[in-house]
Amino acid sequence: MELVEHWVLALSGLILLASGLLELPLGRRYYVTEIPSVTWAGDFFVVLYIHYAAAILFVAVAFFHLFYHGLLGHNGLIPRRGDLKAAIVVIKSLIGKAEEPPFHKYLPEQRIAYAGMAFIIAMLIFSGLVKTYDNLVNPQLPYILALTATWVHNVFSLFFFLTFLVHVTALAIRPNRPLIRGIFTGFVRLDYVHDRHKLWLNDIS
Ligand code: HEM
Repeated sequence: MELVEHWVLALSGLILLASGLLELPLGRRYYVTEIPSVTWAGDFFVVLYIHYAAAILFVAVAFFHLFYHGLLGHNGLIPRRGDLKAAIVVIKSLIGKAEEPPFHKYLPEQRIAYAGMAFIIAMLIFSGLVKTYDNLVNPQLPYILALTATWVHNVFSLFFFLTFLVHVTALAIRPNRPLIRGIFTGFVRLDYVHDRHKLWLNDIS
C-alpha cells in the first residue's frame, strides 16, 4: 500500500510540476513546443486538463494516506522530541565527525522531511483548490484572495521542486543507497537493517 501511495503521489506530483510550468507558459518560451509530437505543450487548455487530471490523483492519494494511516494509528513518520538534535548527529556521522546512532524504521531526517513535505503538499492542495474554484465556479473571487492563492501556489511549487531535489540527492548518499531497492520492491537487506536500524529490528523480532 505504501509503495502504491508513494508512486502515485510522486508521479502525479511531477506531472503537476511539469504541467504547471507549461501553463506559465514556459513551453513556448523555451521552444519545447518546437519538438515534433510535443506541440500540444503550448496549448493552455491541454496542459490545464492534464494539471486537473493529475490533481485528482494527487489530492485523492493525499487524503487516502491521511485516513488510512491515521485510522490504523501508524505514527513512525511523525516527528518526535529530539529529532532535530538526532538529525544533526546523523549529518555529522555522514562526514565522519560522530558515531551514527541506532535507528527505528525511519531516520530522524526522514521524519522531519515528512512533516515539511506534508506542509508543502497541504499548501499546494489548498491554494490549488482555491484556484480551481476561481476557474470553474466563481471567477468573481475577491482579487486579493485569487492573487494570494496564486502566490502561495507558485512559492510552494518551488519548495516542492527543491524538496524533491533534496529527497533524490539524499538517496545518492552511500549509506542510504540500500533504501532505493526498498521503494521499488518493499524489501531491504537484513544485514543493512542489522547495521543501521537496530531499534526497529528489536521492535519486530
Ligand atoms: C505538486 C503539486 C502542484 C504543483 C507543483 C503545481 C504547480 C502549478 C504551477 C507552477 C502553476 C502555474 C502558475 C499558477 O497559475 O499559479 C499551477 C497552476 C494551477 N494549479 Fe497547480 N500545482 C500543484 C497542485 C495542484 C492541485 C492539487 C490543484 C487542484 C486541487 C492545482 C490547481 C491549479 C490551478 C487551478 C491552476 C491555475 C490554472 C490557470 O491558470 O487557470 N494545482 N500549478
